[in-house]
This record gives sequence, structure tokens and C-alpha cells, in this order.
Amino acid sequence: MRELPQEAPPRFEVRVLPNPAEVARAAAEELVDAAQDAISNRGVFRVALSGGSTPRALFQTLASRPFRGRIDWNKSRVFFVDERCVPPAHERSNYRMAKEHLLGPLRIPEASVFRMRGEDDPRRSAREYEQVLSREFGGRTPRFDFVQLGVGADGHTASLFPGTRVLAELAKAVAAAYVAEQREWRITLTLPVLNAARRVVFVAVGPEKRAVVAAILRRKRGSASLPASLVKPKRGSLIWILDAAAAADL
Ligand code: 6PG
Repeated sequence: MRELPQEAPPRFEVRVLPNPAEVARAAAEELVDAAQDAISNRGVFRVALSGGSTPRALFQTLASRPFRGRIDWNKSRVFFVDERCVPPAHERSNYRMAKEHLLGPLRIPEASVFRMRGEDDPRRSAREYEQVLSREFGGRTPRFDFVQLGVGADGHTASLFPGTRVLAELAKAVAAAYVAEQREWRITLTLPVLNAARRVVFVAVGPEKRAVVAAILRRKRGSASLPASLVKPKRGSLIWILDAAAAADL
């Protein structure tokens, strides 16, 4: 009988690199490692990407040498952690940022990219993406090989903001969430999906993340309920990759 592929034992790791460029390279190495493991063991690599500004450097690094040829993107399927409810060409679109810096430069086939439809009704797009994931993962809780997350200064991650109802969503894989501070609807993966991943990598750089990173990683009073603190993969690795500025209070 064919040996079932051995899952690597989950690890928790905090890595501090001198600067954002080194952070991007370290995150790219993690993603390459996850991709090569997934493809060799399961024949396919499923990755979920966040938006915001931090991932741009990671995407540019993945699309440049020496990383450019190290992932078999023909055996990879690209999903999104969350999306702002704007059209795909809008400057705030997470899909647009990924398209510009990763998907386009690497010519990743559209058929391998599953974007959240930010241009449509949020609830309908969330339901539609739920169906996309249900088809992809056979109706089981989606278990991504790699989930790339950022963290906001307020402790949000994905589009899971402190004190919002979506944090309590345990049945659905995808939800629509209104972000009052930004007066904006979002579509987001929910905590059960983030916590089902084989490998979750937080990437944070800059002094503006210093306080929230320390609060979360040093488990300071009041930090346990922060959305980024609630990301604890059940059977997966949790890795934080920081630059010196974001890690200054660790
Ligand atoms: C988004 C992201 C969000 C992001 C954090 C950090 O759609 O904005 O998914 O969760 O990761 O807000 O954003 P920066 O990388 O811009 O600091």
C-alpha cells in the first residue's frame, strides 16, 4: 500500500530579520518550501494570499530571481485571504495588487487563480467563494498548504477586526464583514479556515507594528482576544517573520 505522505510536525517560530527586504526573502523561502512539500506529497499547492502593503515585497521577490523558477505554478492554485469590496481594477483591490506584482509577472494562468468578487454584493460574493472552496476541498473545511497573513496595528488580520461578529463565525469558511473604521465591506476567510492551514505565516514590518507584535507574541494583558492572537493552526505551523523595527519590543 502506498505510504501516506508524512505531514511535517507543526512548528511555532518567530524570525527577526534586519530589514523588510530580508523579511520578504525569508517569507519567500517559506512559501517555496511549502509549495515544494505540497507538490511532492500531494501533487498540488494551494495558497491563500492577503492584501495590504506588506505582501507587495514578498510578491515582487517571488516574481524575481532566484525565486522565480522555484515553484511549479502550473501545479499551484492561488486563493485570497480577503478582499475589499471594490472592483478588481480598483487601487484598493487585493487582487489587483497580487496581479500587478505576482500573478501577472509570473504569468500564472487565470484558471489557477480564484479571486473574491469584490465588485458584487458582499454577501453573495462570500457565498460564491464558499462554493469555490467547497468544490476545491471536497466539502471539507478548506486546508490550505500556506496562508500568508498580515497584522494591523489594531490586531486585525485578514478582514477579521477586533470586536466584530465575524470572529464568532465557526460554520462558514467565508464571510462578508463591514469594517466601520474604513466604511468598507470586505470578504474574508474565517478563523476556522485560517486555523485549518498546514502553514500560516504572518509577515510584519515597520515600527508601526512594534506594539501589536509585542502584545501578541508576549501575550500581554488584553491581547488574547485580538484577531491575530486567535490564529492558532490546529494541525499546522505558525511562523512570524518580522523585521527589527516590528520586533523591537520583543
Ligand atoms: C487587507 C489585509 C489586512 C492586512 C493588514 C496589514 O486586506 O488589508 O488582508 O489584513 O494584512 O491590514 O496591512 P499592511 O500590510 O498594509 O500593514
